[in-house]
Formats: sequence, C-alpha cells, structure tokens
Amino acid sequence: MTITPSKSVLMPALAAALLLGAVVVSQPAHAQSAVAEGQKLAFDRSKGNCLTCHEIKGGDLAGNIGPALTDIKSKYPNRADLIAIVTDETKRNPLTVMPPFGRNHILTDKEIDAVVDFLQTL
Ligand code: HEC
Repeated sequence: MTITPSKSVLMPALAAALLLGAVVVSQPAHAQSAVAEGQKLAFDRSKGNCLTCHEIKGGDLAGNIGPALTDIKSKYPNRADLIAIVTDETKRNPLTVMPPFGRNHILTDKEIDAVVDFLQTL
C-alpha cells in the first residue's frame, strides 16, 4: 500500500496553501474595516462629530461651518497632512473653529488613523 506516504506529503502542503490563502485575504479585509471604523467615528456625534460642520458623502444632517469634504485624496495626497489637520488644525490656522481632536484627546491616535483612512476614500 502506498497511501500512507503520499498522504503525509499532501497534508502539510494543503495546510501551507490554506495558511497562505488566509494571509493573502486578511490584508484587504483589514483595510476595509479601518475605513468602516473611520466612517463610524467621523459620523458619531459623540466622537468625531464631523458632520456638524462638514458635508460628507453618506452622512445626514450635515452643517456647513467647514468646507464639504470632497476630493480629499487629491487635495491632500500626503497622509501626514490629514493626520495634522485632524490632530490639531489650530497649528495651521490659529483662528479655526475645528476642534483639535488629537490635542484635546477627543480621538486617540489610532482613531485618527482610521478617520484618515476614511477621508482618503472621499
Ligand atoms: C466645529 C466645526 C468643525 C468640526 C466639528 C470639524 N471640522 Fe473640519 N474644518 C472646520 C473648518 C471651519 C475648516 C476650514 C479650515 C480651517 O478653519 O482652518 C475645516 C477643515 C477641515 C479639513 C480641510 C478641508 C479642506 O478642504 O481643506 C479637513 C480634512 C477636515 N476639516 C476634517 C474634519 C474631520 C475629519 C472632522 C471630524 C473628526 C472635522 N473636520 C470636524 C470645522 C470643523
């Protein structure tokens, strides 16, 4: 009988293939969830609350104190600029009414990261 040796060669190969598949699909799944999380934080009235001042695709009852957030990725191709704006816009414009979400600890660094992931889809 030759079944036993061929099986012992196949099983590790199959396990490796499954593992590889899992690694390959987990990347886009993670990126997707960060965007969804960022949108949730941006729209949440007790978190980002961005809709109070900004029109944002997919959001309701938006205010117009700030500019509509459209074409953000082409306007700010550099991710660090968006992190800076959300963290503390008073550094760019001392007179802004936009809250310094990072400096005032309204959002954590991780939450700001997710919000910026979302902004880059606009
Ligand atoms: C109280 C009002 C207010 C809130 C809340 C607010 N912003 Fe702003 N935002 C502004 C104003 C006003 C500006 C215009 C620039 C300035 O004042 O310096 C601005 C500018 C921006 C810009 C630059 C836009 C451009 O076209 O140059 C981005 C990006 C931005 N805000 C993102 C956000 C995000 C993300 C949130 C939520 C986490 C948020 N803002 C919450 C008022 C607000």
